[in-house]
Amino acid sequence: MLTSLYDARMVKKALSLFEQMPELPVGCSVPLLQALHIVTRDARINQDSRRKLKQVAHLVRFIEPLIHEAVARRGDVTVVDHGAGKSYLGFVLFDWVLRALELGRVEGIESRPELVARSQALAQTFGFERMGFHAMTVKEALSQQTIQGPVDIVTALHACDTATDDALDFALHHDAQAVVVVPCCQAEAAAVLRQNKALQLAKTPLSELWRHPLHTREMGSQVTNVLRCLRLEASGYQVTVTELVGWEHAMKNELIIAKRVGHAKRSAQTRLQEILETMGLQSLWPRFAPKGAASELA
Ligand SMILES: C[S@@+](CC[C@H](N)C(=O)[O-])C[C@H]1O[C@@H](n2cnc3c(N)ncnc32)[C@H](O)[C@@H]1O
Repeated sequence: MLTSLYDARMVKKALSLFEQMPELPVGCSVPLLQALHIVTRDARINQDSRRKLKQVAHLVRFIEPLIHEAVARRGDVTVVDHGAGKSYLGFVLFDWVLRALELGRVEGIESRPELVARSQALAQTFGFERMGFHAMTVKEALSQQTIQGPVDIVTALHACDTATDDALDFALHHDAQAVVVVPCCQAEAAAVLRQNKALQLAKTPLSELWRHPLHTREMGSQVTNVLRCLRLEASGYQVTVTELVGWEHAMKNELIIAKRVGHAKRSAQTRLQEILETMGLQSLWPRFAPKGAASELA
């Protein structure tokens, strides 16, 4: 009697949730969403949580086919999420896709140990044994070879500043089959543009594109993502750029999806170098050098 009462309450909560967010998949765990504080105890979603869940749900739609491709190819799949934060993406991917597959792993890399401890506890509560969490920076995860074995999919959702670039280093090192990143703001390129502005203004009319301080910041962000795409193409990936969700939902909304095709596009490396030179960004070559390229700019 008690059980059926409890079940009836859960069903009611789930129905209310699906009414609020029809895009949620049938069978998703409402208690998990509650434990992640995305959904309240009475199954309501506030505006911020709805935005986050929409982003994650949309991202899962892009990642799910990549998971199936990896499983078809090698009978297993490993997803490594960089700058995982509270691991919303990892938990949702596991619950909505990997749980039913009964195989595959999600590994989260996050520099804040308290968030990692929280995710470890949550995974234990829900019995998600095929999830791992690592309290370290992306750079450390790479240098310490924290993740052993093949890495199929590298993700990074709003990983701060250059952590997205570190995630790309990680993907290239592991020859990941797919890369799915939604970059956060990156300040490095804007700082170099700012520093070399006077020189570039004398050299090229294109520097008008970043003369005003607001434009310097925006151009820094824009050129960073362009260089990331060229780097991936020059390292043997086919790249698609789209938006994650409608602009009304998020500011940092650029979604870069790259699939490994094996042949490096030489023209992409040439373009990358030309852009660095035209914009006075040569010092950033080590950041954006494609896999296998010389460490010095030719
Ligand atoms: C804006 S939050 C995004 C978290 C999560 N991906 C999400 O979308 O909810 C960025 C996270 O990246 C972590 N982070 C920043 N730099 C990092 C680095 N170099 N290595 C690992 N984690 C990093 C931060 O601690 C923070 O939790």
